Amino acid sequence: MQMVQDSKCARLKLVFFVAFAVTILALPGAPSPANAQRQIAVPPPPMGWASWNSFSNTVDAKVIMNQARAMVANGMAKAGYQYINIDEGWWLGQRDAQGNIVVDAKAWPALAPGEQAGDMANIVRYIHSLGLKAGIYTDAGMDGCSLFPDLGPVYQHVGSEGHYEQDFLQFAMWGFDYVKVDWCGGDKEKLDPAVQYAEIARAIGKAEAVTGHRLYFSICEWGNNSPWTWAPNVGGATADIWRTSGDIVVPIVPHEKHSGRLASFTGVLSNYDQGIHPEAEHTGFYNDPDMMVVGMPGLTDAQNRVHMSLWAISAAPLLVGADLTSLSDDTLATLTNPEVIAVDQDSLGLQGLKVASYGDGLEVWSKALSTPGDRAVLLLNRTGDPAAITIHWSDLGLAGVSSASVRNLWIRKDLGSFDSSYSATVQSNDAVMLVIHGSEGKLKSYSPDAGDRVHKDEDVSFNKVSSRVRLARVRISYTNADNAPRFAELRVNGRTATRIAFYPTGSENTVGAVWIEALLDREGAGNVLCFSSISGPGLNIESIDVE
Ligand code: GLA
Repeated sequence: MQMVQDSKCARLKLVFFVAFAVTILALPGAPSPANAQRQIAVPPPPMGWASWNSFSNTVDAKVIMNQARAMVANGMAKAGYQYINIDEGWWLGQRDAQGNIVVDAKAWPALAPGEQAGDMANIVRYIHSLGLKAGIYTDAGMDGCSLFPDLGPVYQHVGSEGHYEQDFLQFAMWGFDYVKVDWCGGDKEKLDPAVQYAEIARAIGKAEAVTGHRLYFSICEWGNNSPWTWAPNVGGATADIWRTSGDIVVPIVPHEKHSGRLASFTGVLSNYDQGIHPEAEHTGFYNDPDMMVVGMPGLTDAQNRVHMSLWAISAAPLLVGADLTSLSDDTLATLTNPEVIAVDQDSLGLQGLKVASYGDGLEVWSKALSTPGDRAVLLLNRTGDPAAITIHWSDLGLAGVSSASVRNLWIRKDLGSFDSSYSATVQSNDAVMLVIHGSEGKLKSYSPDAGDRVHKDEDVSFNKVSSRVRLARVRISYTNADNAPRFAELRVNGRTATRIAFYPTGSENTVGAVWIEALLDREGAGNVLCFSSISGPGLNIESIDVE
C-alpha cells in the first residue's frame, strides 16, 4: 500500500499500489535515463510593436501602415519582430443594432479595390501582406481605459463585457492574430479578473474553433490581482502573457500635449522587478513587464541596452513602443541584436533568476538556455559608481570547478575560457550581458512515489524531494502521443498550483522534457511536488530531475 495525494493534491488518501518493474525509472540520486534528455521546445514570448506608447489614442490606418512598413524596411521583421498591435483608440464605443462593433470609416478606410471603409479586415490584410501579424485591443469590462483618456475626449462603452463571444469572434473573423484585453472597465466594476479572463479565453477558444484562426491572448490587469497565480492556461488558453505592473511610461506623442514627457530608467527597473515570477513562467506562459520604451525620449543608448538585456534575460515579450519610422541606428542595433533576441526567445522558455548579489545594487541574473551548459548572465550595477561584479560557475548550476567559455553579447566577442568564475567592471546603472558555456552540474532524479505514471483522473506525486537551491530548475520527463498539448496542475509544497503545458512528444514511447522553476523551500528532502491532470486523456510523467 502506498500513500499518494488525491486529484487536487491537497489531502492524502490510500490507494493500492501494484508494483511495476518494467521501466528503468531512475532512483533518487541516480543519473537520469538518456532518453529523458530530449527537450521539447515551448512557444516563445511574442515580439512586435504596439501603438500606445508613441501614438496614444491618435492611432488610425495611416499610422499603422507606416509602422508596419517601417518594421519590414528597418530589418526588425527579419530579426524576428512580427506583431503590429493596435492598442486603445481604434474604436470609440459604437455598436450597431445587433451589437456588432462599428468603427470610424475615416480612420479605417478602404485600402485596396473592393474593400469597404470601416472594415478592420482592411488593415489586417495590409499587415498580413507585409508578412506580419496583426493585434487588436479591448477591455474586459463594459467601459475601457477611454474613461481616463490621455488625449482627446472620454469615450464610454469601449469594452467587451456582455459581448465576449461576439467581439472575439469578430476579431478572429477580421483576421487578427493577437488580442490584448485591458482591465479599466473590469476594475471599475470590481469584477474578478480570474473569472473574466477565463471567460474571455473560452470565447477566444470558440472563435478559434469557428474560424480556424489563432488569436494570441495578452492579459493586462497590471499585476493588481497576482495574475501569475491564475493566468497560465486560464480558461484553457494554450499560451498567454499577463502584465505584472502598471505602464512604464504615459504616451509621448510628438506635437501633441505632453510631448515633452520622458521615459525613465527608474521606471524600467521598477517594472522589471515587478515582473519576476519565475514559478509561473514556463511552457509558453510569460510574465509581461510592459511594452518596451527602448528608443523613446528619456533613455540613453546605454540605458536602452540595459532595458533590452533585462527584458531578454527574463524572457519578457519584446513589444516595442517607440515610433519605428524614426529609430536611431543605435536603437535599431539594440533592438535587433540577434544574440540578445536569442536569449529572450530560447526554447526552454524560462525566466532569468537573481543568482547572486553583492551589497545593495550589484546583482547577477542567470537564465538557463536550451543548449546544455549554456547560461545567459546579466551583471547589473544599480549603484552610482562603477564596480566589479563576479559570477561563480557554481551560482549558475554549472560544475563549479571547471573551465567555461564566456561571450559578451553586446560587443559580440568571445572573451576566452575561465576557471570557476568571471569578473567584469560594470559602469554605474549599466549591465554586462554574457553567455557562459560550461559543464552542467548534477541533477537529482526522482521517479513518482506510486512507482507508476499518472493517467486520467489520477495524480502523480514526488514526496521526498531535496534541492541544492531554494528556487530550483526542475526537468519534467513525460510522454504525450497527441498532436496537441496536454495540461496539468503542479502544486509545490501545498501552495497555489500552476498549470503546465506538455507539448506532444511524438508517441507514447518517446519521452520528452520541459523545464520549470520551483520554489523548493523545505529543509532536506521535505519538498512535495504533485501533478494533477486537468482534463482529456491525462498525461504520463516518467520522472523529474532537480537542481
Ligand atoms: C492601460 C494599459 C496600457 C494601454 C492603455 C490604453 O493603461 O496598461 O498598456 O493599453 O491602457 O488606454
